[in-house]
Amino acid sequence: MGIATGSNAERAPDEQVMLRRLLPPGEPATAQQIADQLELSATEHSPPARPYVLLNMISTADGRASIEGRSRPLGDRADRELFHALRSAVDAVMAGAGTVRTERYGPIIREDGPRRLRRERGRSEQPLACIVSGRLALPADLPLLADPDARVAIITASPASLTGAAAQIEYVRAERHGSLDLPRALAELHERFAVRSLLCEGGPHLNSHLLAAALVDELLLTLSPKLAGGDPPSGESLRIVAGPALDAPVELELVGLLESGSQLFLRYRVCA
Ligand SMILES: NC(=O)c1ccc[n+]([C@@H]2O[C@H](COP(=O)([O-])OP(=O)(O)OC[C@H]3O[C@@H](n4cnc5c(N)ncnc54)[C@H](OP(=O)(O)O)[C@@H]3O)[C@@H](O)[C@H]2O)c1
Repeated sequence: MGIATGSNAERAPDEQVMLRRLLPPGEPATAQQIADQLELSATEHSPPARPYVLLNMISTADGRASIEGRSRPLGDRADRELFHALRSAVDAVMAGAGTVRTERYGPIIREDGPRRLRRERGRSEQPLACIVSGRLALPADLPLLADPDARVAIITASPASLTGAAAQIEYVRAERHGSLDLPRALAELHERFAVRSLLCEGGPHLNSHLLAAALVDELLLTLSPKLAGGDPPSGESLRIVAGPALDAPVELELVGLLESGSQLFLRYRVCA
């Protein structure tokens, strides 16, 4: 599911895209209905001392994760609706600094409707926004950081702090041998912020670190019916996982499949 700026939140259910449920088979449903049925809290798969981590990504049929540096051209309306609905169903939304900078992240949930729904369900209005960063080179005018109502956790190994941001910022500092200790950072999100479900929206470098540390429970992958070709410029990735090869390929089990307008939405469980 690609990064999107628009929202389906205030649309009446009959104006929302209906997704065909192919696996498990079922009646067509809206993105919100699907997200509501994910049952992310306290499943038998929940890890005991860290959040349940879902990776939400989009790729073209030939494996491209971005076109001209952005993921937005990959998705359609159904993808955007699912992207926003998923955000409304979790305790925290996390992204790497590269993605936050490129996609100019703003408030996680912008519309009143889903904020109200979360309140009615006993949750905070907004999921905690988590940014993973090494250098803390995050512009204070980034819409997310410029929003005084935003709750943001900066996950870093650095002792530095951001200056000039209006958002309410907390730091999760987890350093080990000069690098970020992601397992410890996620344990702190669980312990200190009561984060039980964490939606990670990439990007490819953060995904690689999470997968290498066996911290991903599910991959939600939108397969966009497009072919884009192209080789990555040096140091960049055009796929959903970047960096060095993983020690061993991570095995996935398909547990869900939706379709809308030739776009496929695959739900994979990561095998232990
Ligand atoms: N297709 C999709 O679904 C999708 C989703 C997201 C992004 N994208 C695309 O991916 C591209 C961005 O890729 P990217 O790989 O650069 O994004 P990224 O993984 O979001 O960002 C990389 C940056 O995140 C920080 N970081 C990540 N893991 C870290 C760790 N373990 N320790 C310390 N810092 C860590 C570092 O930040 P500092 O630089 O601050 O040190 C690093 O430079 C964009 O073109 C975007 O459109 C596509």
